[in-house]
Amino acid sequence: MPESQRPTLADATRGRLLFGGDYNPEQWPEETWHEDVRLMKEAGINSVTLGVFSWAKLEPRPGERNFGWLDRLMDLMHAGGIGVVLATPTSSPPPWMGRLHPETLPRDEDGRTEWWGSRQHFSHSSATYRRYAAAITEDLAARYGSHPALRMWHINNEYCTYDWGDEAEAAFRRWLQNRYGTLDALNEAWGTAFWSQGYGDWYEVLPPRRAHYMKNPTQVLDFKRFTSDALLECYLAERDIVARHTPHIPVTTNFMAVWQGLDAWTWAEQEDVVSIDVYPDPRDPFGGQSGALVHDMTRSQARGGPWMVMEQAAGPVNWRGVNHPKPAGLNRLWSLQAVARGADAVCYFQWRQSRQGSEKFHSGMVSHAGEHGRTFQEVKRIGGELAQLSEKVADSRVEAAEVALLLDWNAWWASQQDGRLSSEADHPQVVRAWHRALWEANTTVDFAHPEHDLSAYKLVVVPQLYLMTDAAIGNLVAYVNAGGTLVAGFQTGIADEDDRVRPGGMDVRLRELFGIRVLHEWWPLDAGEKADVEGFHGTLWSEEIEAADDVEAVIPYKGGELDGLPAVLRKGRAWYVSTLPEPHVLRTLLVDIAAEAGVRPTLAGLPAGVEAVRRGGLLFLLNHGRDGVTVPVPGRHRDLLTGADVTDTMELGRYGVAVLELAP
Ligand code: GLA
Repeated sequence: MPESQRPTLADATRGRLLFGGDYNPEQWPEETWHEDVRLMKEAGINSVTLGVFSWAKLEPRPGERNFGWLDRLMDLMHAGGIGVVLATPTSSPPPWMGRLHPETLPRDEDGRTEWWGSRQHFSHSSATYRRYAAAITEDLAARYGSHPALRMWHINNEYCTYDWGDEAEAAFRRWLQNRYGTLDALNEAWGTAFWSQGYGDWYEVLPPRRAHYMKNPTQVLDFKRFTSDALLECYLAERDIVARHTPHIPVTTNFMAVWQGLDAWTWAEQEDVVSIDVYPDPRDPFGGQSGALVHDMTRSQARGGPWMVMEQAAGPVNWRGVNHPKPAGLNRLWSLQAVARGADAVCYFQWRQSRQGSEKFHSGMVSHAGEHGRTFQEVKRIGGELAQLSEKVADSRVEAAEVALLLDWNAWWASQQDGRLSSEADHPQVVRAWHRALWEANTTVDFAHPEHDLSAYKLVVVPQLYLMTDAAIGNLVAYVNAGGTLVAGFQTGIADEDDRVRPGGMDVRLRELFGIRVLHEWWPLDAGEKADVEGFHGTLWSEEIEAADDVEAVIPYKGGELDGLPAVLRKGRAWYVSTLPEPHVLRTLLVDIAAEAGVRPTLAGLPAGVEAVRRGGLLFLLNHGRDGVTVPVPGRHRDLLTGADVTDTMELGRYGVAVLELAP
C-alpha cells in the first residue's frame, strides 16, 4: 500500500485520546478479568495492549494453537467498549523453542548462550525463530484481523537484542557484502592496514567477538548498523503479515527512550504509529526535561504528527538501583506533559501490578493497594481529564518548532568507541545538556537528522555530531548560506561515515564555516574539572583552536594552556562552542542566539520549572516544581481542566497543570 494510504494513529484513536496500558490477564484467574473491566471503565480506560508476552500460552507446543482464552478476552474488551492493541508475542519465545532449536538462542560476544528463563532470548538472524514468529503472527492476524475490538498492531516489544552467534555471523557477512561489494572496499573502509587486520577471504570476517584489546572501531560501528537492520527485518516481516490481513489497522512497535540499539529515524519510517516507552526517574530533578526530550524526539520521528506513549509507570519501576514511587500528582503532570508535546495516547506498563515474576515490585495502574490505593485514584483522575480534553486535543499538532536539534545514530555509535579521548563526554549526556538549555528557555524544539530538509527552522543546533557524511556537511553549509543560524558543539564533523578522521581533525568545509584556521589539539577535561573561559566555566572538553581572520566574535579561554584562544567562535550566522558551558551559560548563549535568529519562547517571563507548550491552539502550562507559583498569562482564557476563567495571571500548585483556551 502506498505510504499515503497507510492508516494512522487517528484510525485507532477515533477522535479520542487513548488511555490504557499493557494488560497481562494470563497472569490472573478469569474472575479477575471481569473485575478488571469494571475498574477500567471506572478509570476511563479505552485501550489495552494484549498478548505481548503470551507466546507460551498461545503456542504451548510447537505448532499447537491455544486461542480460546484470547477469544474470550477480545470479546470481553469489546463488550466493555475497550479497544485492543494486539501484540505479536515474538519477543519472548516459549522454552520449547530453545530446547528443540538451540540455534534460536542469541550468543554474547564471548560465545555464551542467552538461555530462556527471562525474555528477549531470540536470535534475530535465526531462520527457525523467524519461521515460528511469522507463523504465529499469520495465525493471530487471520483470527483477530476482523475482530471489532482490534485497533492497532504492536509488533514484538522493545527490540533490543544483539547476537554474536553463527547465524548472525553469516547475516553480518551478507550485510557487509551488500554494503561494500568487495573485500577490498571493506578493508579500505575498516582501515585494516592497522594492526595487521587485512582480510583475504570473506569467511575471515566476523562480528566483533571477544578480542585481546580494542576492537576495530569501524567493524564495531558496522555491527551496530547491522544489528539495527537485522532487527528491522524481523519487524518488517511481521508488519507485512499483519498489514496484508488488515490494511486499515495501524502498526507500531514500541521504542525505548534514548536507546542506542535502533536507528529510530530509519525505523520510524516503517511505522504507522511511532510509540515510545518513557520512564524518567521520579527523583531526578530534571525528570520533566528528560520526559520532554523523549517526547520531542518521538514527535519528530512521527514527523510532527500525534504519537503514542506505549508505556510509562504509574509508580515505581524496579530496574534502577533504588526505585522511587511517584509523589502525588507526578503521574498526572507527566501524562499531561506527553499530551502537551503531541501524544494522542497515554498508556502504561502495566494495568494490574503482578504478584509473581520479576516485575512484581514494578508499579501497575492498579497497584498492590488495589482500587482504593492512591495510584489507582490518580489514574482515575487522569482518565477523566483526558476524556475532557479529547475533543479539543486529539489529532491536533504541537505548534511548529523554530529550532531543530540534530541527532544521528551513526554519530552516536561511532562516538562511543573504545579508543576515544574521553569517556566522560558521553553523547546522550551532551544532547541532554543542549536540550535542557532550550527546555528551560521555554523554546519548543524538534529533533532532526542532519540530512533532513532544515529550511523550516530558524535555528539549527548540533550538540555533537562526531561522524558526519558529506551529504550532512553539505546540508549544514547550504542551510547557513540560505540564511539559517547554526550552533555546533564540540566534537562535530571529526570523522567521515567510515569513521576515518577528516584531514585537519575536522572537516574543512565546517572549519571554514565556523572560522577555524587550525584545530591544534583536543583537550578533554576530567570529571568535575572546569575550563576557565571569559565569563564562565566550560566542562567535559576544551579545544586548542586558532581562529581564522574572518571570525567576528570570540569568547576566549582564560588562563591555563589555552589562555587567549577561542572557546566560542562566531562567523556570520555560524557558531562553534568548543566546550560544554555550565547550564545557565549555555541557556543564555542559546537564548541570545535564538533571539537574534528570530526565535521566540512559547511564553515569556515564566517562573523557573514551569513549562509552556502550545498544541492545537491551546496553551499547556505545567509546573514541575513542588511549590505553588504565579504564572503570567496575558489575556483572557478558560482552563479546560477546571472550567475556571483566567485573566492575566494564574496560580499553579505543586505539579499543577492548566490547559488554557483563549476566551472568545
Ligand atoms: C519495558 C517493557 C515492559 C516492562 C517495562 C518495565 O518497557 O516493555 O514489558 O518490562 O519495561 O519498566
